[in-house]
Amino acid sequence: MAAFSLNVNGRAVSVAADGDTPLLDILRNHLGLVGTKFGCGLEQCGTCMVLLDGHPAKSCGKALSAVAGRSVVTIEGIGTPERPHPLQQAFLDEQAGQCGYCLAGIIVSAKALLDNNPTPSRRDIALALDDNICRCGSHPRILRAVERAAATLRGGAR
Ligand code: FES
Ligand code: FES
Repeated sequence: MAAFSLNVNGRAVSVAADGDTPLLDILRNHLGLVGTKFGCGLEQCGTCMVLLDGHPAKSCGKALSAVAGRSVVTIEGIGTPERPHPLQQAFLDEQAGQCGYCLAGIIVSAKALLDNNPTPSRRDIALALDDNICRCGSHPRILRAVERAAATLRGGAR
């Protein structure tokens, strides 16, 4: 079994696994990063979204061999309970979610948006989250939370 090197949340890691193993499995079952969720496993729902070299990517559909040498950021790399990212804080403040299962993927997608567009319109946010399904119908609060985070970030926080 080959070993693959990649960078996860700023840390160099080496994983010995079959190269066909989905990145999602590697994150959850090899590296203990269970914030990234399994939803459909078919690249349809976005719950497994991570940043791959800064771009949103569905980790259920990325083979380990395809991410070797690349940079992966998961929800754990965006913020912590002790030091939440403004997006995470805004989702708490807006109570943007019910079951919460979709939120890690949504926050990852929103992070990619705000990294590139600090002043997104509501339509920009909706388009950026188009690949993320929320089964609880929390979309209005989710949109407000991303707008709140954008405003916080423009104000110079973090
Ligand atoms: S679990 Fe990856 S897109 Fe649904
Ligand atoms: S809050 Fe339940 S799926 Fe989005």
